[in-house]
Amino acid sequence: MTHQEYLHLISTLLQHDRRYYEEARPTISDTSYDQMMRQLLDYEAAHPDKIASDSPSLRLTERPSSGFMQKEHMAPMMSLSNTYSYEEIDDFVKRVHKLLGKKEVDFCAELKMDGVAISIRYDKGKLVHAVTRGNGKRGDDVTEGMKTIPSFPLKLTGHPVPDSIEIRGEVYMTLATFQALNMAREEAGLEPFANPRNAAAGSLKLLDPKEVAKRKLHFVCYGIGEGQFLIETQKELQHQLKEWGLPVADVRHVALCHNLEEITHFAEEIHRERDFLPFEIDGIVVKVNALKEHQILGATGKVPRFAIAYKFAPEQAETKLLDITVQVGRTGVLTPVAELEPVFLAGSTISRATLHNQEEVARKDIRIGDFVVIEKGGDVIPKVVEVNVKKRATHTHRWQMPTHCPICNSKVVAQEGGVAIRCPNPHCKGQRLRQIEHFASKQALDIEHLGTKVVEQLVENGLVGRISDLYLLSADQLKLLQGFKEKSIHNLLSSIESSKKCPFYRLIMGLGIPSVGVETAQLLAERAGNLKTLMQMREEDFLAVDGIGEKTAAQIAEYFQNPHNQEEIQLLLEQGVEPQAVKERKKEGPFAGKTFVLTGTLSHYTREEAASKIIEKGGKIANAVTKKTSYVIVGEDPGSKLEKAKQLGIPLLSEKELEDKLQS
Ligand code: IVH
Repeated sequence: MTHQEYLHLISTLLQHDRRYYEEARPTISDTSYDQMMRQLLDYEAAHPDKIASDSPSLRLTERPSSGFMQKEHMAPMMSLSNTYSYEEIDDFVKRVHKLLGKKEVDFCAELKMDGVAISIRYDKGKLVHAVTRGNGKRGDDVTEGMKTIPSFPLKLTGHPVPDSIEIRGEVYMTLATFQALNMAREEAGLEPFANPRNAAAGSLKLLDPKEVAKRKLHFVCYGIGEGQFLIETQKELQHQLKEWGLPVADVRHVALCHNLEEITHFAEEIHRERDFLPFEIDGIVVKVNALKEHQILGATGKVPRFAIAYKFAPEQAETKLLDITVQVGRTGVLTPVAELEPVFLAGSTISRATLHNQEEVARKDIRIGDFVVIEKGGDVIPKVVEVNVKKRATHTHRWQMPTHCPICNSKVVAQEGGVAIRCPNPHCKGQRLRQIEHFASKQALDIEHLGTKVVEQLVENGLVGRISDLYLLSADQLKLLQGFKEKSIHNLLSSIESSKKCPFYRLIMGLGIPSVGVETAQLLAERAGNLKTLMQMREEDFLAVDGIGEKTAAQIAEYFQNPHNQEEIQLLLEQGVEPQAVKERKKEGPFAGKTFVLTGTLSHYTREEAASKIIEKGGKIANAVTKKTSYVIVGEDPGSKLEKAKQLGIPLLSEKELEDKLQS
């Protein structure tokens, strides 16, 4: 590399830092970034006299953001040197042996959580503050936001509690929360987060703790920055932190290793398990086990010599972008979709990927005909990470969002304050189709025999144009459709008929009011009791409901003020739709009057499905564990709610026990 190229590399890296840290919108993959950084470090190692003063290697990134108090760390927060190769882990092990002057050193291997580093100070066991890494010396005081995390202790428990201590850990968002958040953001016309890490960082930096609480963040501790304590090894530290009441990693995810072989064995095991974890990790961290040896080994620049991160290269594939199509969602938001030359990636063949919105396509300059790198990240839906510009053909053009809706040809509009482009036509067939599909879906009215294919047939043949039309369908009309015979006609019509008496909260879900999920629907159903009352409620009435915040209240009010929605609800009532208040239906049975809290991932149901089943049996769903909770349902990899339930002595139910109860 010439010096000129080195300088160019610096400016490229700085630009990517800005996109990553300030805008939370990276345009290249972590792997590509790490490769460039590696080239930079190699050049600097060979030419120590030529290191530029603005080199990103000389400073810790993440500049403090405005709006937060700055707090000094007792000990600097360092980062880790990382590698993608076992040879370099071998080098690390040998270096440690050499520096400590012995051939037998124990290592402790842990998960490398992909979240936001946090430092928490406790004085005499009482919380002082929680601070982000910032520039390594001082960061943002995010104590209030951290307090919304249920497992975050305000006081340390057990004996002895240290005089003054700084605990280090990671704040993260589970994949399930991340996916739900992004779906809601896209529906609301907001830009989705690139990955759970960005989502966690963005959430922690919300100034209003109430908003942070909605993001359901988690945290886990893995170390101590500064302070006096009695334990001697990294492995024992896990127990000590736990004794103080701090959340730590699962014991299965912390391994004592004696050599390279054991380290790589652990890395491989974790790599296999990775897809099944409810949160994202980007590798493992290997630390010298004896804490006093950390002191001996010290640090070079901003990285310690006692630890190294081994990162998993993300599963990526390169393929050709054949076309960009545009989908119309149920609220009219236009989403560009990448139509790809089919390619095999992490266990399945991929031929489509979401491109989120026009802004995303423009930022990454994704063009039809390009070779693109796709990756399976937190989302089940794969995404386009970057374009392989080297392979770009000549005469390609920047992609533009169509100016007219691809379904109804209405002129599209840009949403104020957001990145979304919408079709404004409430009669657009594309929107109607998605609305009807949602109305019939499992999470809403759960109308059997009315899946996407049937909805498409009904809409395309002009039999159904809006939700209320479903209740006007006749056997004679259905007879004309392909594949409909006496039995299937009977099945469909009777499930539509019985949906008229669906639980009230399900109907509310089915209306597709922005930001209204099953919990809010349940609250609204309880408060209003019936559709007519619900329609008459005003913004302040929604706000008065415990559990509904300002933004949601405004969105619900806006929905019911829209004459088009009013008319639709009126038609539903006229067609004989008469939702049932669940409360009145189930006064007896094992679920009546009981409050359930779910934690972890269930294998047979989505959260919404399990919640619906419980509500149907007369139970209630709550978000937080309190003394009033009747049962906590514990899925795979439960969160802090499990700890809380144990503390309060709340009975626990496994998924199997829940199923048995539902059937009884
Ligand atoms: S120990 C001296 N342990 O990775 C640095 N870090 O790339 C000590 N991280 O800033 C860090 N999981 O935010 C450590 N088990 C773990 C970790 C972990 C995730 C993060 C942490 C750190 C970054 C370095």
